[in-house]
Amino acid sequence: MTRATVLSGLGTSLPDSVITNAQLAEALDTTDDWILSRTGIQTRHVVDASVTTGKLGLKAAARALSSAGIKQIDAVILATATPDFACPATAPQIASRLGLTGAVAFDLSAVCSGFIYGLSVASGLITSGIVNNVLLIGADTFSQTLDPQDRTTRAIFGDGAGAVVLRAGEISEPGALLAFDLGSDGSQADLLFTPNMPRIAKENMPESYYFHMNGKAVFSQAVTHMTNSVKRVIGKIGWNSSDIHRLVPHQANIRIMAAVADQLDVEPDRVVSNISEVGNTVAASIPLALSHGVKHGQLHAGDNVVLTAFGAGLTWGSVALRWPDISNSSR
Ligand code: UT7
Repeated sequence: MTRATVLSGLGTSLPDSVITNAQLAEALDTTDDWILSRTGIQTRHVVDASVTTGKLGLKAAARALSSAGIKQIDAVILATATPDFACPATAPQIASRLGLTGAVAFDLSAVCSGFIYGLSVASGLITSGIVNNVLLIGADTFSQTLDPQDRTTRAIFGDGAGAVVLRAGEISEPGALLAFDLGSDGSQADLLFTPNMPRIAKENMPESYYFHMNGKAVFSQAVTHMTNSVKRVIGKIGWNSSDIHRLVPHQANIRIMAAVADQLDVEPDRVVSNISEVGNTVAASIPLALSHGVKHGQLHAGDNVVLTAFGAGLTWGSVALRWPDISNSSR
């Protein structure tokens, strides 16, 4: 029997504080109408100075463990672009706070594609027999890297965390990860980048601590790479677009998601989206969207699901899976 990776638990965590478009418009030269019509975003959650990526990730991780009903975990992977410290990685501290001292634990840096990269790395560890299960967390506090005066990035990004438990199982089981596609193009790293890394944003930080984004160039790259990546991943398992029950794209912009779905001939009602409530939460984007899909009855056991993401690096990737029968442990 071929050893496969099976998704078996899901948990999320969002910071309490919510910023509406109207609140942004009080401080910046923007409007609710512009943000909603150009991005699909209405609100985003943001941390206060006491909450780090590690703390948000820890909550989501604990909820994923309880959703999976598993206590012993062999490996903890944290996908993030905003770790608590430049060094060391944040994952070992999350592991020890969960009582998992001794587990393999490391951070993975692929920005908005981090959760998809993480699923692939976790699956490699499991199917090779190195570990029997993995706790994968996607968490970011990107609000802490934004220029307070930048109306574009402040409109888009929010904070959050999502986590899943992955375990060894069989390919025929609901929850089995079926195919992967990953890629990168470092020659375009300058389209989205943060030169230095602050843990907590402070007033009047040097420009080099803020995230920079060429939104227009990123938009078209995101559509092209997510569309092509989905085509490749479904091609590996002989699916056509019509075989996809649910497409769960990285929540970057409602217009990007619509364009990807349109190019793939996936009707809007097959696309899972929570961008209006949470914005772009970077590595947390896909697990938060999965949680939304479960909560709103959009994901059912046995559904053919395709996850796809694109982000800074540039990086992109997709995963095809059969949706498991799992509960959703969220905030
Ligand atoms: O996870 C991957 C990370 N990022 C992305 O995926 C982002 C991809 N890009 C996008 O989502 C879109 O390009 C944006 C939402 C960032 C911008 O939307 P757009 O429709 O591409 O607008 P634009 O960049 O072409 O700008 C149009 C106008 C500009 O003004 P002028 O030059 O025409 O006078 C911008 O300065 O909109 C202006 N603008 C705003 N106006 C009001 C940009 N941000 C705002 C704002 N409020 N928040």
